[in-house]
Amino acid sequence: MSRTRILAELRTSPPAVLPSLLLCDFGNLATEVQALEQAGARALHLDVMDGHFVPNLTYGMPIVEAVRRATELPLDVHLMIARPADYIDAFVDAGASMVTIHAEAVAEPAPVLERIRRRGAVASLAINPPTPLERIAPALPHCDMVLCMSVSPGWGAQKFDPVALEKLRTLKAQYGDGLLLEVDGGVNVDTIADCTAAGAQLLVVGSAIFRNRQQGYAESLSELTALGGEGGRDGFATGKLDPLK
Ligand code: DX5
Ligand code: ZN
Repeated sequence: MSRTRILAELRTSPPAVLPSLLLCDFGNLATEVQALEQAGARALHLDVMDGHFVPNLTYGMPIVEAVRRATELPLDVHLMIARPADYIDAFVDAGASMVTIHAEAVAEPAPVLERIRRRGAVASLAINPPTPLERIAPALPHCDMVLCMSVSPGWGAQKFDPVALEKLRTLKAQYGDGLLLEVDGGVNVDTIADCTAAGAQLLVVGSAIFRNRQQGYAESLSELTALGGEGGRDGFATGKLDPLK
């Protein structure tokens, strides 16, 4: 799927819940991916950690490739790695449709984001909870998406930090639907409506889906999507946010 088509598809209502594969059963990866697709996932989120930019270590290109073989869904690859510029081509070649780099990992994000775009992928910049929005202002014209982290990156199942909501609101007020907004970390049935009310259209969810397997993926996704839709409506109804077109 092309970059513009992915952007158009993910901008449509209701907000998209993206399962983060961090806590999935990697021994049955293809089955997990297909189950999530059948359950209604519109894209999948893959967390790449290098044991350096973040203390935890997960996986790299071979797993992205394996997920790509199992589905045609857009793959949202979140690079929590120290030198993302060195790996853009490798991850796009492996099947990434959306590539997120961290503002804290690069001195100048703009050229790396433009490289992602040139490769035909959605270019996204992530910002950690303590990093102020001002830090990424010069790079915003080069972003298709901004990922506001609501936990310190590294592990799943952490507590949601509302500092992300403030950033989402500010970006939504400034850019309307010209910028896709994503939130990642601690998103669950209690926090998802606040995220969409603040302007997030993409909601990354790990533990609330995978530590709640008995509910079933389809049921979890539809419950989260419905709650997220409520938040989006509240936000638009109050006139705080520009409605998505
Ligand atoms: C955190 C990762 C997240 C994480 C989300 O470093 O970027 O994608 O897996 O998991 P939950 O939803 O459990 O916070
Ligand atoms: Zn992530």
